[in-house]
Amino acid sequence: MSNQETTRRHQDYLWKCVTNYYEEPIALARGEGMYVWDEDGKRYLDCFGGILVTSVGHANAHVTEAIVDQARTLAHTSTLYASGPQVALAEKLAEITPGALEKSFFTSSGTEADETAVMAAKLYTGRQEVISLRHSYGGRSAAALSTAGQAAWRVLPAQVAGCVQAPAPYCYRCPLRLTYPECDVACAKDLKELIETSTSGQVAAFIAEPILGSGGYIVPPKEYFKEAVAIVRRYGGVFIADEVQTGWGRTGGKMFGIEHWEVEPDIMTFAKGMANGVPIGGTVARREIADAYPALSLSTFGGNPISMRAALATIEVIERENLARNAQVVGDYLREKLMGLQERYDAIGDVRGMGLMQGIELVKDRRTKEPDAPTTQRVMDEAKRRGVLIGKGGTYGNVIRMGPPLIASKGDIDELVAALDAGLAALQQ
Ligand SMILES: Cc1ncc(COP(=O)(O)O)c(C=O)c1O
Repeated sequence: MSNQETTRRHQDYLWKCVTNYYEEPIALARGEGMYVWDEDGKRYLDCFGGILVTSVGHANAHVTEAIVDQARTLAHTSTLYASGPQVALAEKLAEITPGALEKSFFTSSGTEADETAVMAAKLYTGRQEVISLRHSYGGRSAAALSTAGQAAWRVLPAQVAGCVQAPAPYCYRCPLRLTYPECDVACAKDLKELIETSTSGQVAAFIAEPILGSGGYIVPPKEYFKEAVAIVRRYGGVFIADEVQTGWGRTGGKMFGIEHWEVEPDIMTFAKGMANGVPIGGTVARREIADAYPALSLSTFGGNPISMRAALATIEVIERENLARNAQVVGDYLREKLMGLQERYDAIGDVRGMGLMQGIELVKDRRTKEPDAPTTQRVMDEAKRRGVLIGKGGTYGNVIRMGPPLIASKGDIDELVAALDAGLAALQQ
């Protein structure tokens, strides 16, 4: 099969909303380490990892062996039966997650993980109202879309009542038109007024990503979460950290994004990079919150033994090879190179991120900061022509997002930056 043939059939038989990247989409056929190959045999350096999923590289031998071994032994149980792989992963989460997070519920996606967390918070507090952030994204269920902070994903008006959005800690485009640090993190302090004016005052939860991923890698000021979470707790709500993008060493130096902000969540959610590409979702909570969720609840594929073994093997590789540290070192190197590009290309308005989660926001004019989505699209296409895959995001579709596997080397980064450089230069001609 060729790229053209597969992408044509994709258009014919998949829903129109299942859009692919690129003017000429590619069909991926194979992966190994940092690389993927398309159906025409062209090799690409994968700097997006299928949306920050392939944490330890494509077809990692240790993860593959665990998957094959488990598939040969027992492929399915459902949550109605206990299983060794499921309890082993739950125990591991209790051990490595911060604070008093202790009990897990497994599902198959980030959407379900967030949905489970929000339901647990409502059941525990006996309240209904949920605060999320503008520019956030937490999945495609009715509740997740009701908390989403980006118009493009909100294909229907909020279907779940009681969801309100706080201003994002988006310093480059401060919603309050202030400047950090003189602002005194006014965006976090705004939560008090939000609760007092836009809710009944009875808040169940505040759900937030430690770095807003799909929103364009928006990194909050270091004081943001301490301030925001303290306010929410004062009003009786719990804090859910959505680690779907920021977990597993991605942000560099720490296993979880929220650890950079010195706040202990009441509930944490995972998916994406947790099992290196095998479908998984996880919600870990403080014991009393987890146990306030009454029976019955089940997930047919939750705790699937193949997913559990894949996650355990992925975490083993991340720990054994100290990939959180690698993400920090190589991520800092990438950041420095991107700052260098910013000095040379006016189109780059902002460079931001942490670890191997780095992005550049493209603008038509640095002064007005008018978003430049068409250029973003073209830079992606140019990078692809040069054999490098990158992602994009942001509410205005103008942020190039990089999220390579955590095994990336400085040499890989040189190749990525060379492709970006050549792509940006080509657009100036
Ligand atoms: C932060 C965050 N939470 C939740 C989700 C939903 O995950 P999934 O697509 O696995 O349902 C996503 C997906 O991009 C995400 O970025």
